[in-house]
Amino acid sequence: MKNKIPYLKDIKPGINKISKYVSGEIKDKKIIAAKLSSNESPFEIPSNIINSIIKELRYSNKYPDGDSEILKSAIAKNFKIKKNQIVCGNGSDDILSLICLAFSREDSEVICSNNGFLFYPIITYSSGAKPIYAETENFSISIKNIKEKISKKTKIIFFANPNNPTGSIILKKELVKALKEIPKNIIVVIDGAYAEYVIDKEFSDGLDLVKKFPNLIITRTFSKIYALAAFRVGWGYSSPEIIQILEKIRGPFNVNLVAQLAASKILREEKFINKSIKHNIKYKNLIEKELKEMGFLVFKGHGNFLLVKNSLEIISTKQILRYLEKKNIYVRSLRAYNLPECFRVSVGKRKENILFLKEIKKLLKRSC
Ligand SMILES: Cc1ncc(COP(=O)(O)O)c(C=O)c1O
Repeated sequence: MKNKIPYLKDIKPGINKISKYVSGEIKDKKIIAAKLSSNESPFEIPSNIINSIIKELRYSNKYPDGDSEILKSAIAKNFKIKKNQIVCGNGSDDILSLICLAFSREDSEVICSNNGFLFYPIITYSSGAKPIYAETENFSISIKNIKEKISKKTKIIFFANPNNPTGSIILKKELVKALKEIPKNIIVVIDGAYAEYVIDKEFSDGLDLVKKFPNLIITRTFSKIYALAAFRVGWGYSSPEIIQILEKIRGPFNVNLVAQLAASKILREEKFINKSIKHNIKYKNLIEKELKEMGFLVFKGHGNFLLVKNSLEIISTKQILRYLEKKNIYVRSLRAYNLPECFRVSVGKRKENILFLKEIKKLLKRSC
């Protein structure tokens, strides 16, 4: 049908293969009792940042700094990295898209995980390339399976560390080994959207590996622990050569004024970050423990969310999600991730977590 419309005739064939990305539930905030579907921070940003944003709004008639200089300086200082190797974007989604735009094309292959972030195949198809899925092992990213999928056509490998939606991590030793073995003509993207939540000492966010592996790109976001999801700020870190390419093709003013300001300020809020990490550990452990006691299979999650497999016979995952929705509690259905028996639950505010656990307990009791 679409092919009969003359102006759609020459669309890249891959675009017809894309299913639109469906985000975690967005309903009227006032009626939502618990939003545990998008791995957002449960905390609002400190009021001193809100106040400085308000002051800045009067300059909205002017374009923001297209090079995000102040933000890059703040990132470089905070993460002890080189400013000229940073590119900022309208969320890390923006950086991921730029990477595909620059490094893949028709007839190339992009490797991602079969249980990975759904945006990777979307941007792969948009660039005209073909996604190749490497199977996870017990819901963990498998470097072995990724390597087996490498062909002459492979241009990019994407994986998130920690992985979304499974929460698994790859430790530094394995990461270094993988980077040594992967051919240097392939761009390796480690998406560190949830890196700040990891407490395992053997974990590396990969920023220190960029020097040794110039084909490595690390992407990061301000949408998760930094609680700026609505502002849309992310960044990438790589060799100067790769960053120059991404800088050339990004939108001229791809990070807005208030996003730049808020992001550079939130990095200095050590108390806020520590509070977020502590809260995450406490409630992730509680949710895991209680769901396990109810009989669910809960996978070790290193981010701010848990992958839960419903192995109960008394009730289906669909029925669980439908019940929770009636109570205005939203967790993430993983149907689109080909995991219909699973769901993903983010760590929310104390009240949200308790309510979720209470309602799910009530439902199971009723279903026995
Ligand atoms: C693994 C992963 N990467 C990237 C993103 C996108 O983040 P951003 O808000 O920076 O675009 C998400 C969002 O959920 C994610 O889970």
